[in-house]
Amino acid sequence: MASADTRSAAAAAGPDKSPRKIAGMFDAIARRYDLLNHLLSGGLDLYWRARAVRELRFTGREVLLDVCTGTCDVMLTALKRREAGPRYAVGLDFADAMLRVGQRKVAERGVGAVAPLLRGDAMFLPVATGAADAATIAFGIRNVYDPHAALVDLHRALRPGGRLAILEFAMPTAPWLRALYGWYFRAILPKIGRMLSKHHDAYTYLPESVGTFYRPDEFGAMLTRAGFSGVRAVPLTFGVVYLYVAQA
Ligand SMILES: C[S@@+](CC[C@H](N)C(=O)[O-])C[C@H]1O[C@@H](n2cnc3c(N)ncnc32)[C@H](O)[C@@H]1O
Repeated sequence: MASADTRSAAAAAGPDKSPRKIAGMFDAIARRYDLLNHLLSGGLDLYWRARAVRELRFTGREVLLDVCTGTCDVMLTALKRREAGPRYAVGLDFADAMLRVGQRKVAERGVGAVAPLLRGDAMFLPVATGAADAATIAFGIRNVYDPHAALVDLHRALRPGGRLAILEFAMPTAPWLRALYGWYFRAILPKIGRMLSKHHDAYTYLPESVGTFYRPDEFGAMLTRAGFSGVRAVPLTFGVVYLYVAQA
């Protein structure tokens, strides 16, 4: 097995994750992002987000910080049931067009007063120390240039004992599923993604970035190094997605 250090080198050799490139890519696909998410995951993305939100055990009193919020699906999932949701949810992303789609959805659901959106970088959160009771990152940390730096800053933004839930794709380990997944990732997903998003690279970047991201045990260790405790890595849907849960 590769060590975390050799994987870091592999990750560094993976796709370009400079903030300008990543923000530009998400800006370019923002209009079709939700449709492609639901289509390419067969609707499972809705279940994955709801499962992550459930882990945070909201009581109607918390402040949630949703980093890499994109089009705001995680915070809107959390705000759906107000008594079992957060009191207030702040969404942060650096892609302006993604935030604009999110802003429209937030307004349509009538939660604008309790769901402000901030434009900023996950590595430098414009949030006071200990301001959040809970935090989420869904399918975002893989795209961050320095995920360890982002986790350290997220730890700072959470109050002591605050809960964190992160969703991220992983390569399944069962050989039959790995083969099937590899085929879907190489042959099907990029074609559908390119056809509907009209973006040349975004849906080849997706499998490439998943393939070069940290294994669940490595990412769990990174959370611990960033200061989190009680780290759990829960495989969802045969391990194609992992839910990481931890406490600040
Ligand atoms: C795959 S989307 C996920 C969006 C949303 N969380 C969801 O569940 O659909 C990844 C998002 O992360 C954002 N992102 C990536 N790196 C970021 C960073 N360093 N700072 C802020 N946002 C970032 C992108 O702009 C994009 O909107």
